[in-house]
Amino acid sequence: MPLDQAIALRRSVRGYLPAEVPEQTIRAVFQLAQAAPSNCNIQPWIAHVLSGESLRALGERMVAASEAGIPPDPDFSADRRFTGVYRERQVDAAVQLYGAMGIERHDRPRRDWAYRRNLNFFGAPHAVLVFMHGAFEEREAVDLGIYAQTLMLAMTARGIASCAQGALSLYPTIIREHLGLPPSNRLIFGISFGYEDGGVAANRARVGRAELDQSVVFHR
Ligand SMILES: Cc1cc2nc3c(=O)[nH]c(=O)nc-3n(C[C@H](O)[C@H](O)[C@H](O)COP(=O)(O)O)c2cc1C
Repeated sequence: MPLDQAIALRRSVRGYLPAEVPEQTIRAVFQLAQAAPSNCNIQPWIAHVLSGESLRALGERMVAASEAGIPPDPDFSADRRFTGVYRERQVDAAVQLYGAMGIERHDRPRRDWAYRRNLNFFGAPHAVLVFMHGAFEEREAVDLGIYAQTLMLAMTARGIASCAQGALSLYPTIIREHLGLPPSNRLIFGISFGYEDGGVAANRARVGRAELDQSVVFHR
């Protein structure tokens, strides 16, 4: 698939078929994503790929924690309040997503249910949890973002759907315990992936983008 097409086709998919992606295909996309650039080539991403029982058990634990009202304890603050145009874009994305799912704005129980689907990887058969070393900050987080997009485009080119999820970083203590990782591995986001289930209502959501001139200023 041409790169332009992969960029245009990639979108966040929030409902998956149970079929697993063949292991050699998974290894191939992660191998390709190793080519992502990073500051001083330090390659700060630490990626843990989960499938099968490991993924299922972790999803259950996170959903149970959320249902029990255990407060999230993300390594990086998730307590964002957007204002102005950023708030408008956030609301528009929520309107598209919840609209596709037929959930009213003030239907708190169903919105909570929809949000909790994040913690179960939207039913995906695989997920990657992306960590970086505790000493790293914003600059290295940039590298992780570039890595994530490289990975998702490599997946798109092979017909594999994905969704980047900050929500997967809400319970890092549970996740580190599950994976046997030390606290020095800080979790920043996860990406669920697999084959899209076209029958899931959430997958009908489409979000737009700002006009070019609202984001890019050309100088000469
Ligand atoms: C770093 C990052 C974190 C995200 N976190 C979530 C999330 O927790 N849950 C979710 O459903 N979507 C999440 N998204 C997906 C965004 O909502 C989505 O990328 C945006 O609305 C644009 O839509 P598109 O990906 O379909 O083009 C995240 C995306 C990124 C890049």
